[in-house]
Amino acid sequence: MKNSTKPIDGATPIDDISGLKLPKDRVYTLKEIYFKEAENIANVTIKYLSSIPSKKEAPFSYEWMIDLHKEMFGDVWEWAGKLRQIELSIGIQAYRISTELKNLSDDVLFWDKNKTYDTYEISARLHHRAVQIHPFQNGNGRWSRMLADIYMRQNSLMPVQWQEELLSSENPNRDRYIQALKKADEGKYEELIEMHKITY
Ligand SMILES: Nc1ncnc2c1ncn2[C@@H]1O[C@H](COP(=O)(O)OP(=O)(O)OP(=O)(O)O)[C@@H](O)[C@H]1O
Ligand SMILES: [Mg+2]
Repeated sequence: MKNSTKPIDGATPIDDISGLKLPKDRVYTLKEIYFKEAENIANVTIKYLSSIPSKKEAPFSYEWMIDLHKEMFGDVWEWAGKLRQIELSIGIQAYRISTELKNLSDDVLFWDKNKTYDTYEISARLHHRAVQIHPFQNGNGRWSRMLADIYMRQNSLMPVQWQEELLSSENPNRDRYIQALKKADEGKYEELIEMHKITY
């Protein structure tokens, strides 16, 4: 089913509402769906960010990272926590996702143990790699930013002020954010790291 909402630059437009878990007795506006997602994500925010999450609670393992997406979107979407099997305009080829996500988990655990980079840089690299892989049909941006926030919080920093409502509409902040991700694609992490320093 199509909707008339203009796609937002860099975001997956919700033009496919198959897999929506909400009661089928009526039609939902994009705003309503976005609100339901936000409610679901709010519970995850409380679970992982209201106090410092232990390494047992947030192990940054392959399985846990996938499960986090399910925790964030599972009340609303069937595809929550399921690796995509279709190709998207953003992200790597679908068949490589599981390998690359395992590599990311291994790398984060290595960086964490060896303090290869400081906490801001580890969280920026985690965020960038996660969204570059783009493992899921949707929700990859919010999931990647949540991963970064949980890593920051686990390492005694406050979460980043992403201004989610701003990032999800057309505005200069989103442009800056996407530009910082594109720079990171070229190995230039400075701007994304700076964004990770604007914390609560
Ligand atoms: N050109 C790009 N290069 C790399 N990453 C991008 C690019 N455009 C967008 N992204 C990332 O992909 C995310 C959008 O993917 P997706 O729609 O799956 O996530 P989302 O959580 O639904 O989106 P949103 O960030 O709008 O809340 C953006 O937030 C950004 O992190
Ligand atoms: Mg999206």
